Amino acid sequence: MATTLIRGGTVVTATESTRADVLIDGEKIVALLAAEAPVPEVDRIIDANGRLVLPGSIDAHTHMEIPFGAATSKDTFETGTRAAAWGGTTTIIDFPIQMKGDSLIGSFEETMAKAAGHSAIDFGFHQIVGDVNEQSLAELDLVLAEGVTSYKLFTAYPGVYYSTDGEVAKVMQWAATNGSTILMHAENGAVIDLLRAQAVARGDTAPLAHALTRPAELEGEAAHRVILLAEMTGTPVYIVHISAKQVVEEIAQARHRVTNAFGETCPQYLYLELGMLDQGFEGAKFVCSPPLRDPADGHQEALWQGLASGDLQVIATDHCPFDFEGQKTLGRDDFTKIPNGLPVVEHRFPLMIHAALAEERMSLQRVVDISCTAPAKLFGLYPQKGTIAVGSDADIVIVDPHAKVVLSAETHHMNVDYSCFEEMELTGEIETVLSRGREIVADRQFHGSRTHGRYLRRGLNQMLV
Ligand code: URP
Ligand code: ZN
Ligand code: ZN
Repeated sequence: MATTLIRGGTVVTATESTRADVLIDGEKIVALLAAEAPVPEVDRIIDANGRLVLPGSIDAHTHMEIPFGAATSKDTFETGTRAAAWGGTTTIIDFPIQMKGDSLIGSFEETMAKAAGHSAIDFGFHQIVGDVNEQSLAELDLVLAEGVTSYKLFTAYPGVYYSTDGEVAKVMQWAATNGSTILMHAENGAVIDLLRAQAVARGDTAPLAHALTRPAELEGEAAHRVILLAEMTGTPVYIVHISAKQVVEEIAQARHRVTNAFGETCPQYLYLELGMLDQGFEGAKFVCSPPLRDPADGHQEALWQGLASGDLQVIATDHCPFDFEGQKTLGRDDFTKIPNGLPVVEHRFPLMIHAALAEERMSLQRVVDISCTAPAKLFGLYPQKGTIAVGSDADIVIVDPHAKVVLSAETHHMNVDYSCFEEMELTGEIETVLSRGREIVADRQFHGSRTHGRYLRRGLNQMLV
């Protein structure tokens, strides 16, 4: 097996930042050598002088090729995982979707067929439970046996993915019997549907109405409700794609009560804002659920503080890209027909590195924690993934901390015709990405392959309080 030495860099983990050389044998890290130690004989040396050496990052929330209304998200596993790799993401966790009337295990098998042999990086799954019934509950055991240890339910999207409180509680009770974690899309779908119908009836059909009919209070209310259900059933709960300060507060309070409540936010809720939907139909480029919020209301600040303080544990993307032309335009006359979701998978880790290097929002170690280590621990992948340590997979990202990068649809690798971050300049350039010891990005070229990524059977949540 080939040996590699990453030499002369600063190795940053969630707990420390040290000058060290990383010795890799085949797919694994086999030693961390003091900077002044003699150089061992190896097949290849990667010069990391003046560079940061970070763990490969984990995007715990992506949607490759999923149906949403009349559209299917544009990135396939092949294009989406390649774009992820460009941005230093070496693992994704995506979602098989059980729709109403479908078999749950059937949806898992279908998604596995789309991903296996078509992914440039390693991948796991959270299972979406879209139809809670006795058969689904029986099939959950089969999915658990395949190494899927987390399940997503929705209090949003009535008639599509929505579950009643009773159904949520029922799946939580099942999860409590085996220690798995429930992911919640927490918005009050019934009240949102009322507001949407009222907006359409009065002729309010532009993209901005999408956001105005999903107020932050309804996100806070749903989060409060599902956290209480999780407490009652004794189930760990992880609230996905948090956009509202009310939810940060709900999670902080729950954790204060020693409840296993966890929270994820996404770069779009930190860097983008409500006003971006208010530009005629161009605003459709920014339609996602929950929606972007008004910074004047303090949401972005609360999310940054939550990430920095530990009240929120994870930064993911909810990557769900739709072309503007031909997909977002399905809702030109009616915002309720705009497919929900944004293209972000390539930019999450670079944006967070920028947040540390240029904006001093948090330390680099904290960035490594929320982007790599905490998702690995929460979703049963640690220490195989999420850190730089002896025995871990050699998933490694080498960053030039001084270089500048400008984001644009012209240069990104996601299969979508616009960028939400057009012309944003970032500090820090991802130069080299290794996945299990293989250089998949280097010299501004992609060297990976669509058959390299492996399915990850996951263990249970390792962050329980
Ligand atoms: O707008 C979003 N979030 N689209 C993806 C589906 C979901 O709710 O996660
Ligand atoms: Zn969701
Ligand atoms: Zn999602």
